[in-house]
Amino acid sequence: MFLALRSTFTIFVKNLLPIRNMDKVTYNGLTFEPYLTRDDIAREVKRIAGEIKQSYADDNPLFLCVLNGAAIFAVDLFRECGIPQSEITFIRFKSYEGTSTTGTAKQVLGLNESIEGRTVIVVEDIVDTGVTAKELLKVLREKNPREVKLASLLFKPDSLQTGVKPDYIGFSIPPKFIIGYGLDIDGKARNLRDIFVLSEQQ
Ligand code: IMP
Ligand code: MG
Repeated sequence: MFLALRSTFTIFVKNLLPIRNMDKVTYNGLTFEPYLTRDDIAREVKRIAGEIKQSYADDNPLFLCVLNGAAIFAVDLFRECGIPQSEITFIRFKSYEGTSTTGTAKQVLGLNESIEGRTVIVVEDIVDTGVTAKELLKVLREKNPREVKLASLLFKPDSLQTGVKPDYIGFSIPPKFIIGYGLDIDGKARNLRDIFVLSEQQ
């Protein structure tokens, strides 16, 4: 009787506080702990959207989502902004072996729209060393947009090697490995609604 009551009570409380009771998850034999909840994320998406709207509500900004990691954040942010004339497009930013003396170079795949004279809001999942963002911004600026802004859900300031700080940041976090809400480990875990951090106790 007591046990039955206790489990009923536990289920009741869990339903009231589903996020705070998030469980650990395991990928590739590694344990990840709950870190940022879906409510935390939604709140920051809303805040960033408010900032973008303040500047570009009457503009026709092009949201440029960097696949794959930013897909979920970009769609949520794009909708939350709700700017009538805005558009969204999805690109990949790939390394390739260049024939020039520099060896490797980067190429933007999937950008079919002209960005000349337009406001472009690049949407990234995370800026870690900043190498990817720096190279991408350089390639985009060569296409003569009016303005390029960078929105990143996550930013690891202590890992930054390039001085490229996003214009819009959801969370500044320590240099730990995280997954969920688009961020992956070997292609997995992007579908988690919350963000998890690699546990220090493995
Ligand atoms: P960069 O070091 O700023 O160039 O970031 C390169 C890429 O590394 C990001 O776009 C992510 O795809 C990936 N990355 C960096 N930190 C994490 C992390 O904590 N979890 C998952 N992917 C990450
Ligand atoms: Mg990425």
